[in-house]
Amino acid sequence: MNRLKPVYHFMAPVGWMNDPNGPIYLEGAYHLFYQYNPHGDHWDTIHWGHARSRDMVFWEHLPIALAPSLEKGEHHCFSGCTVVDDEGKPIIFYTSVGEGERNQITGAEQWMATGSSDLISWKKWSGNPVMTPDIHGDMAVTEWRDPFVWKEKDSWYMLLGGSYQGAGCVLIYRSPDLVNWEFLNRVDEDREGAGVWECPGLFTLQDKHVLLYSPDQTDDYRVRYKIGTLRDDFRFESEYEGILDHGGKEGFYAPTTFLDGQGRRVMFGWMPETRGDFEGIKGWAGVQAIPRILSLQNDRLCVEPIPEISKLREEEYRFEEQAVTGSMDTGIRGKALELQLVVRQSAGRFWLKVFRSPGGEEETVLWIDPENGSVVLDRSRSSLYPGISNTAINADLDPAMDGVYHIRVLLDHSSIEVFVNHGTCLSTRVYPQREDSMQVHIGSEKILQIEAFRGWKLKAIR
Ligand code: FRU
Repeated sequence: MNRLKPVYHFMAPVGWMNDPNGPIYLEGAYHLFYQYNPHGDHWDTIHWGHARSRDMVFWEHLPIALAPSLEKGEHHCFSGCTVVDDEGKPIIFYTSVGEGERNQITGAEQWMATGSSDLISWKKWSGNPVMTPDIHGDMAVTEWRDPFVWKEKDSWYMLLGGSYQGAGCVLIYRSPDLVNWEFLNRVDEDREGAGVWECPGLFTLQDKHVLLYSPDQTDDYRVRYKIGTLRDDFRFESEYEGILDHGGKEGFYAPTTFLDGQGRRVMFGWMPETRGDFEGIKGWAGVQAIPRILSLQNDRLCVEPIPEISKLREEEYRFEEQAVTGSMDTGIRGKALELQLVVRQSAGRFWLKVFRSPGGEEETVLWIDPENGSVVLDRSRSSLYPGISNTAINADLDPAMDGVYHIRVLLDHSSIEVFVNHGTCLSTRVYPQREDSMQVHIGSEKILQIEAFRGWKLKAIR
């Protein structure tokens, strides 16, 4: 089953991983923490794993940063963030959860830990908790979690996610010193009055504020962004909003962002397994998506994988200026590939088939329908294994500029990330059974003009 294990994406050394936590760039190195169960390939006893990298491509595993303090009634160290305080001390903020009175619905607390300057050893603060749900007075917030902290002028701010009166919400707090906090307001909440909002984030791109959150306990788990302004009353005024990645819990969830050393807003996100009842894979679960850069261009949110991944490129395939009708084998073979296409099409659907077996018994198909403005990642034939989730990932597409589509695809054995026109993202998991499900075909109902097609085999770094 090892052929299903991604080879160039970041994964935990063993066991279960979910959300990325507290990415930070410090003294020439990137640090990534993550929700981690080192004892099994299922969600339980959540620790904070830790890894370090010079380029966000090659990672070195480091000792576990946080483990639950069972003696203090803590069973899980939920998601959170890292900051460096005014004295230069690294700090983790995270949500501490236990059982009974400390259950995650009503009894979550916000805790803090301080780190050594190399971020390797962490000590929980003796004054914990930093905050309890009482901070909201009469307002009963449930499922309260996932601190995101930043500094602005002379104050520190924290966002937390949760639910109020059954509606997912983001809440904001302020502190002069990271220890004493006041509750300011609910930044935003679910209009339909449903769910829980997890892993909130807020940052600026150019002169706009961007709010991110991951909706849980709803019908639609896709991560949202809103672009607008955080007003003086700490309510968010949205100018427009969208879906950050259409995978949701089937492929991209609980992202978090940070400013890297070069002024880029970089996002990590968890790609959950979607292997359902299939029990053929043991020992690992969860992959981090290739880090993505967020930017605003002409008031539109652009999302692109970090350019550093070009370091992984090995063999290159390319062809240019070709018209296709029907189906064509590109000749590219592999399960760890990067594909970049520029095509022109205004009528009729076209497609890209990946992880395809020679007889087409298995294939994952990206359909693009210019007339209906839709993109579909069809997993109905992705795997011959039984019990695997095979729902389609669907997205609406902005009308293409002059009928030109820029498509970028990253394949890694059981992971697929698709970027259409620099901002429509579809990420998911597929589990091709056959060793020879390695072909890449392109095709179209009408004439498809391929302006450029480039593909690379990507290096296995694990
Ligand atoms: C999101 C999430 C967070 C929580 C963590 C627990 O996937 O549910 O809200 O802190 O996972 O592992």
